[in-house]
Amino acid sequence: MNNNINNASFPNTRMRRNRLSSWSRRLVKENNISINDLILPIFVTDSEIKTAINSMPGIDRIPIMQIVEIVQEAKELGLPAIALFPETNSSLKDDIGTEALNEDNIICRTTRLIKENISDIGVITDVALDPYTSHGHDGILKNNEILNDETLYILCEQALIQAKAGSDVIAPSDMMDGRVNAIRKKLDKEGFINTQIMSYAAKYASSFYGPFRNAIGSESNLSSKSKKSYQMDFTNSNEALREVSLDISEGADMVMVKPGMPYLDIIYRIKDTFKMPTFAYQVSGEYSMIMSAINNQYLDKDKTILESLTCFKRAGADGILTYFALEAAKLIQKG
Ligand code: PBG
Repeated sequence: MNNNINNASFPNTRMRRNRLSSWSRRLVKENNISINDLILPIFVTDSEIKTAINSMPGIDRIPIMQIVEIVQEAKELGLPAIALFPETNSSLKDDIGTEALNEDNIICRTTRLIKENISDIGVITDVALDPYTSHGHDGILKNNEILNDETLYILCEQALIQAKAGSDVIAPSDMMDGRVNAIRKKLDKEGFINTQIMSYAAKYASSFYGPFRNAIGSESNLSSKSKKSYQMDFTNSNEALREVSLDISEGADMVMVKPGMPYLDIIYRIKDTFKMPTFAYQVSGEYSMIMSAINNQYLDKDKTILESLTCFKRAGADGILTYFALEAAKLIQKG
């Protein structure tokens, strides 16, 4: 390509010709966002009433008794899947996240309730200990270290009880080494050969998770401690390819990159390299950032939501976990 200003192709080539009319722009469009690309994360709480999440304007923690209603709405809008996250009562938290292995914990109860009432929508459940540990870490903490192999044992049991409760997709978000392999083996051994694994394969230690930690109530537990000894360094990119390649070889059916918007280069490289079903998580901090600008009337709501999501598709994502999923589905339906 000749980038010279005296490029001989002008005026023969006028890039603006294709952009002139709306029908032509539609015709040459390279990427589209569809309702099939959207996954709605839902925060579930044991409390009787909906509680607003202060750091995420417009998002509530949903009481179990109202869960069927919201999942039904998601299904009617055509969303293929939802992802569940629990707010665990602090009295149930301990050092090793025992509550993660309670077959009647909030996630298992919610999953069963959804499965008893609604068919044909995927239920994704998160595997990691942070909603259940008193220190807010994703694994077992000993002498200031997160123990990898000891944590794996618990994660496998956690994955198993979620699968038993009816979870369709196990999503390990803990970033321990070897967890996809360990979970796959455990599920297979127990007969859950068709339970899928969506691994948070390239998950970075990010300040964009701040509002989520507030939502599930792990923020004060974690306080100033960081997850940098297990989540990835945001300065790295090649390392993401190694992480993804390991998770694929360990049996991941789908891989995810997280956070989303500041990490589009990572999504692009991963999709380009592995051609796997690749997902992006537009995380809580991205949601809150966009929402605060919308609420201050700095940005147009509908257009910004759709642009932010479509750009994930352009980068190569097959789907996006987004707190805007219901809103976006309605916008897409309107056309
Ligand atoms: C827990 C988990 C986190 C998110 C999803 N699963 C937080 C963390 O790793 O601290 C973040 C999601 C979001 O910010 O929207 N392992």
